[in-house]
Amino acid sequence: MHASYDDISLAYKIVHGELTVKKHAEEFTYLNLLGDVQGKTVLDLACGEGRFSRTIKHGGAHQVVGVDISAGMIELARQAEDQQPLGTTYIHADVASLGTIGSFDVVSAAFLFNYAASKEALLALCRTAYSNLKAGGKLVASINATPLFPLLNNQATRKYGYLVQGPSPLREGDGVEYSFFTGNHSIRLRNYHWSRATYEWAFRQAGFGACNWQAPTVSPQGLEEHGHEFWRDFLCEPNFICLECS
Ligand SMILES: C[S@@+](CC[C@H](N)C(=O)[O-])C[C@H]1O[C@@H](n2cnc3c(N)ncnc32)[C@H](O)[C@@H]1O
Repeated sequence: MHASYDDISLAYKIVHGELTVKKHAEEFTYLNLLGDVQGKTVLDLACGEGRFSRTIKHGGAHQVVGVDISAGMIELARQAEDQQPLGTTYIHADVASLGTIGSFDVVSAAFLFNYAASKEALLALCRTAYSNLKAGGKLVASINATPLFPLLNNQATRKYGYLVQGPSPLREGDGVEYSFFTGNHSIRLRNYHWSRATYEWAFRQAGFGACNWQAPTVSPQGLEEHGHEFWRDFLCEPNFICLECS
């Protein structure tokens, strides 16, 4: 999996930068859940090429540290920081073995937990998230292969620029393939399916309290540009879900 992100880091950045669903649904929902980051310290786990790290710093965060297992993604994040210095730092590491590197107000984990190939691996990621949070801090995360609304082999999502394929019925720990495409670029990602109960088990075991699951919403701009009908299939069966734990 790590090698695959090194191979696709640039394509990932391009494809995700262009996808309507990313901008109007995913970023919109995720940033709303993160809320006001003014003056806060934020650890961005699985930061990728740093898109949320930069947005959070632009939002007035006091400190942002991004961590990713892919050298290629971290390289892109550092290049962006060199081109437009924001004071964001990036660490090349596996979240599972990162340990405690600070005491942050917010831990962000956009599309990290769905890479855990086993329940033990999932728990290790959750423990790192917990041990880097200060008392009263919050974890905000988004997860692919939605535990609430599984969407499989459904061609209706072509118009949004992605397809999700996996076994049916979907069982705990099954691999799920995501393809994202736009213009001349496409990428394929492999995630693992975990039920909502398994995620909640892992968060509880790691020390977190109740989990608040948040279904995607679409920005007013996205509704205006594309119309309500365009978003109907996505909103019926979105391909991700967000959550907040404290
Ligand atoms: C779908 S990308 C999301 C990147 C970024 N959070 C975003 O939303 O644009 C998933 C990222 O998770 C990273 N990743 C997966 N497993 C990881 C682990 N155990 N530790 C650190 N990063 C990991 C991958 O390298 C990849 O950059």
